[in-house]
Amino acid sequence: MDDYGPPSVLRLAETDVPTPGAEQIRVTVRYAAVGPTDLAIRAGHLKGVFPGGPGTVLGFEAAGVVESVGHSAQDVAVGDEVAVFLPRLGGYAALAVADFWVPKPASVSWADAAALPASGEAAVRVLDQLAVSAGETLLVLGAAGSVGRVATQVAVARGVRVIAAVRPSDFDVVRGFGATPIDYHDLSVFSGEVDAVLDASGRSDLPAAIALAGGTDRVITLSDPRGPGLGVKLSDVVPDGVVPALREAMGRLASGELSLQSQVVVPLAEAADVHDKLASGSLRAKALLEI
Ligand SMILES: NC(=O)c1ccc[n+]([C@@H]2O[C@H](COP(=O)([O-])OP(=O)(O)OC[C@H]3O[C@@H](n4cnc5c(N)ncnc54)[C@H](OP(=O)(O)O)[C@@H]3O)[C@@H](O)[C@H]2O)c1
Repeated sequence: MDDYGPPSVLRLAETDVPTPGAEQIRVTVRYAAVGPTDLAIRAGHLKGVFPGGPGTVLGFEAAGVVESVGHSAQDVAVGDEVAVFLPRLGGYAALAVADFWVPKPASVSWADAAALPASGEAAVRVLDQLAVSAGETLLVLGAAGSVGRVATQVAVARGVRVIAAVRPSDFDVVRGFGATPIDYHDLSVFSGEVDAVLDASGRSDLPAAIALAGGTDRVITLSDPRGPGLGVKLSDVVPDGVVPALREAMGRLASGELSLQSQVVVPLAEAADVHDKLASGSLRAKALLEI
């Protein structure tokens, strides 16, 4: 990133090779995934929350081969194939330094491995924070998105009944996950009660969702800035929970329990074009940058 601003602030450039710290690894990146938070950081909407501005390398998730290992890093060796979660960014690069990683099973494609970490971590984290258990009813707002679909499928696998708020054209997608679809444009069509709400859209009718849950105690949003004002917790990364969450999500992906979004793969040099298409809504797919 040359600066905060439109997609054109993203350009391919040489930068210093980051050095892994004692408990970190450095990875030769095969694919890096693009997520909606990347667009918000680039545009300058999250100043103070994430680093940005000149010299920032975006990217919360990637997959590649371990190239260097910090002297205290455990259970990992040069040459291992891994997926990495990068809460301090740096994925859109040939080399990325990671605090958190999970082995990439041979049965998982490189593209899926790169597409999973951020959404898998967030989905499992919020399900655990909501403490939703088998037999309970969970409303997932944005259940066809990256995080929402992982949360929906993990919840169903844990025996939770999921009401999935999606656009009508995605009803069959979430039915395929074992969830009950409702139109996210009008949550009032659902007449029952729910035990908990996971907002994985950031743009939902939160007041209506709170009403369905009978209060805010078990309502969590991942990104709606109106959440705290409504008494809804805005979830953030819990470092101790990251690796267990990554392991659960990767395990379920490897065993065929998870189906990810459709993907489009483009060269790293086309990151700006991908941001442009995602921002305009002309691309509805998980974008992966091939390094
Ligand atoms: N706090 C954290 O740690 C954390 C971590 C990961 C992600 N996030 C944030 O969580 C959000 C979801 O991330 P993501 O990667 O899953 O994004 P995504 O793939 O773009 O999914 C967002 C979903 O929200 C849906 N949506 C749009 N308008 C809606 C509405 N009015 N009601 C309900 N759903 C609606 C979208 O549906 P359509 O496709 O039909 O438009 C889409 O499926 C983003 O805001 C992201 O920045 C936060």
